[in-house]
Amino acid sequence: MYDFLNINFLRDLKYFFYKVILFSLFLTSSAYSQDLQPEDGYKLISQNLIKAKNHMVVAAHPAAVSAGIEMLRENGSAVDAAIATQLVLNLVEPQSSGIGGGAFLMYLDGKTKELLTYDGRETAPAEATEKLFLTSEGESMRFYDAAIGGRSVGVPGTLALLERVHKAHGRLPWTRLFQPAIAIANNGFPASTRLINSLKGKRKKRIQTNKASADYFFPSGKTLRPGDVIKNRIFAETLSKIANHGSQIFYQGEIAKDIITEVVSNNRNPGKLKLSDLKNYKVIKRKPICHTYRKYKVCGMPPPSSGAISIGQILGILENFNLPKLGPDSIDSWHIIIEAGKLAFADRALYIADSDFVPVPISALLDKSYLSERAKLINLSSSISVPAMAGALPQKTKSSYIPDSSIGRPGTSHISIIDKEGNAVSMTTTIEGAFGSQIMVRGFLLNSELTDFSFLPKIDGKLVANRVQPGKRPRSSMSPTMVFDREGNLILIIGSPGGSRIISYVAQTLIAVLDWGLDIQTAINLGHVVNRNTDTEIELETKAITFTKPLIKRGHKIRQRNLNSGLHVIAIDKENLYGAADPRREGKAQGD
Ligand code: GLY
Repeated sequence: MYDFLNINFLRDLKYFFYKVILFSLFLTSSAYSQDLQPEDGYKLISQNLIKAKNHMVVAAHPAAVSAGIEMLRENGSAVDAAIATQLVLNLVEPQSSGIGGGAFLMYLDGKTKELLTYDGRETAPAEATEKLFLTSEGESMRFYDAAIGGRSVGVPGTLALLERVHKAHGRLPWTRLFQPAIAIANNGFPASTRLINSLKGKRKKRIQTNKASADYFFPSGKTLRPGDVIKNRIFAETLSKIANHGSQIFYQGEIAKDIITEVVSNNRNPGKLKLSDLKNYKVIKRKPICHTYRKYKVCGMPPPSSGAISIGQILGILENFNLPKLGPDSIDSWHIIIEAGKLAFADRALYIADSDFVPVPISALLDKSYLSERAKLINLSSSISVPAMAGALPQKTKSSYIPDSSIGRPGTSHISIIDKEGNAVSMTTTIEGAFGSQIMVRGFLLNSELTDFSFLPKIDGKLVANRVQPGKRPRSSMSPTMVFDREGNLILIIGSPGGSRIISYVAQTLIAVLDWGLDIQTAINLGHVVNRNTDTEIELETKAITFTKPLIKRGHKIRQRNLNSGLHVIAIDKENLYGAADPRREGKAQGD
């Protein structure tokens, strides 16, 4: 067994001491679980969280959070704060998100209680075909052969999304929202440890495939260190132009021309993007998907994201078990969560893609009786062999497609914001893998989002729902989420980066808060246990490691690894706002 886990003697010793510490923690936490009344779960908000009365911002970098707070202090709205936060993230966390990428934004109007989602997902160029990621022999390309360069670049949606939500829900002038990012780009910012670490190893070589990226991240060939000051005057200029002229200059003007030149003339991997693709880009307002979970209503992003459906399926399956009673220390709990993950990911691979191109049977997938039938497949003493099969839906919603196996990479960021009127934003934003396509234009990176499509359009002669098609949006896992209590009050704003693991990170954190009554910080900090219908992944150096042996006994194949979520959560009760940022990244919660 140890051979299988590849744990050597020194690591064993480390785990021995680790377990001693965990055992003492366990004595405290098990007493906590015994006191827990399932229905009381959400009331348990720790006193140690960042607390505020008026407004709160949680995002992946302190400078980005400060920009958001600055807007809120000037009477800006949650949307104003989200825009300022995103623009600074583009600069200080360039590996994850920015105007060269795409995003989903969920918005709650504090007064009318209307809940909306805005889809700023990238689209495939009009000239893209289902063969985009096939070799000349008709095989699937290797991931980085596809991702690096112009081929993987979809029409960016983030900037159009920011402009659209500003028009609908913003309060401060558009130009004001750009000032913090422009100032930081001109004056410089200290490179964070995470940014510097993400420039190491194989990534260093990948980034250096693009001259502008190489010159920016390795100035004069030098390797930067954490704390070194980085300036990005070209980006400051780009932002000033967009601040003054609006997104038109990006989608139809001089910036558009530069984007197209870089994509189509990429000598390694030219892409098919045209000026007309940029000009025709549209942000789509969509109805959120809401479902009940025990006494709560959980709302999220519809297709092209798989987020809300897959989280809804996991929770809907779990509703058939008494997780609140089992608690976070029970192997049964984790076994059931793993199995629910397998079943949800099986359905995701078969049924979920851009619903403007393929019919997605949303209601059938979230139907409570369907999910309770799926829950019956879970046996407490053995594990479902992987890959689990997708469920059979009623005849009229049956799929003629075949499941795909696209995975999704973790170059993403999440922003949670609430303002003093109760307007709330949950926004997940991405350029796909770290540094996206690696192509830098005018100081920002272009996405590699098209790699979220299935590389294979057909398997065994059957079409894959998430195949490349012109103008289609690749299936996402981004899961900006809001949770409401029985009276309809907003109680949680949550989301995370992490590729397709986002679904598991968000679902697990919801369980920890809603079922187990953990405060949001403790819930975020819990070791992750992830199953995407393949091996089960357990987060290294967390208590979850102690679940390894008992899970193996039930037949699970385990891989221990780092699981770098970036959960950013706001909890709301009648008195206060509470914020928590994921310690696995560099984020921060701040409020007044
Ligand atoms: N690129 C990450 C996602 O959209 O799921």
